[in-house]
Amino acid sequence: MRIGILTAGGDCPGINATIRGVCKTAINYYGMEVYGIHNGFRGLLDDEVTPLTETSLGGLLTMGGTVLGTSRVKPFRRGKASAPENTPAALMRTIQKHGLDCLVCIGGNGTQKTAAKLAETGINVVMIPKTIDNDVWGTDISFGFDSAVSIATEAIDRLHSTASSHQRVMVIEVMGHKAGWIALHSGMAGGGDIILLPELPFNIHNIGDVIIERLKKGKPYSIVVVAEGIPTLNGKKAAQYIAEEIEYETGFETRETVLGYIQRGGSPTAFDRTLATRMGGHATELIAQGKFGRMVSLQGDDIVSVPLADVAGKLKLVTPDNDLIVQGRRMGVCFG
Ligand code: F6P
Repeated sequence: MRIGILTAGGDCPGINATIRGVCKTAINYYGMEVYGIHNGFRGLLDDEVTPLTETSLGGLLTMGGTVLGTSRVKPFRRGKASAPENTPAALMRTIQKHGLDCLVCIGGNGTQKTAAKLAETGINVVMIPKTIDNDVWGTDISFGFDSAVSIATEAIDRLHSTASSHQRVMVIEVMGHKAGWIALHSGMAGGGDIILLPELPFNIHNIGDVIIERLKKGKPYSIVVVAEGIPTLNGKKAAQYIAEEIEYETGFETRETVLGYIQRGGSPTAFDRTLATRMGGHATELIAQGKFGRMVSLQGDDIVSVPLADVAGKLKLVTPDNDLIVQGRRMGVCFG
C-alpha cells in the first residue's frame, strides 16, 4: 500500500504532528510506504512528490507550520481558467505515475470539499481536519484551535495590565474567518468584558453603555475581544471599526490590536499534539481497513470517522445556546 499525503489551506500548529502520526503508523506498524505531496493540491497538479522515510520525520511533533508546504489551490476550480493540463486529469496522472493507492488530505473546509469531490471520482481519500478556526463540520474540535486560543489568551492577558494602567479600552481582533470560536474561547479564558462574534448580532450603542457602566462601578478600563468576521461598515477591519465606534460613543481613549498570523505560528500545545497524533493514527487505520471517502473526527473523547459526503460544504458556527456564551452572560460578559 502506498499513501500520498498533502496539506492544503492555511497552516496551523499540529499539522506536522499529524503527518508524523500518519507516517510512523503507516511505516512502522503497517509496513506501508508514504509519499509527500508538496504545496497542497498544487503539488498533485504539478507533480511535486517525494518519498517520506523515518529520517524525514525527525522533530516534527513540536514543529509549527507544515513541512510539506501548503497552498490554497483548488484543483476543481483551477481547470476552468487555465491550461488543459491544470485539471483533475493532471492530478490523476500524478497519482498513477507514483502508484499512489490513496490520498491523505489534511485541511479545512476547502479541503473537505475537494476531498469529497475526489472521493466521488473514485479516488481513495481520507481527510484529516485541521484549522485554527474550529469551523470544520463533523468534528467537535480540529487541531490548531487549542494552540490559537492559547496564544490569543496570552495576548489578552497582556493587554489587561496596559489597559488598566492607562485606563483605556483595548480592542483585540482575533482570527476565525466566519466563525467566532477563537474569540469566544480566548475572550472567556482571558476575561474579556465584551466579546463580539460574527454569529451574534450586536448593538454598538449598547457596547458604549456597558463601558460607561463599568466606569461607574469603578472599572475605568475594558477589554473588548472581536472576531475578524464581525460585520463592519465601509470595509473597515473589525478592530478598527469597533475601536472607532467605541471612542465616538464613549469618549474613552481606545486602542486596537490585530493579533494576526501569530495565532497560526509556532509549536502546538500538548492538546493539539495528542489530537493530531491520534487523528493521524486513525487515518492510517482507516486506510489499512480499506475505508475511504471518510473524514477523521473527534466526537467527545473518541476518534471516529464520518463520510465526507455527509459533512462537506457545511460550516460549524457558534450557536447562541453555546454553554460558554450562556455562562459568560450569567457572569456579566457582554456579547452585543
Ligand atoms: O483559516 C485560517 C485563517 O487563518 C483564518 O482565520 C483567516 O481568516 C485566514 O486563514 C487567513 O487566510 P490567508 O492565510 O489566506 O491570509
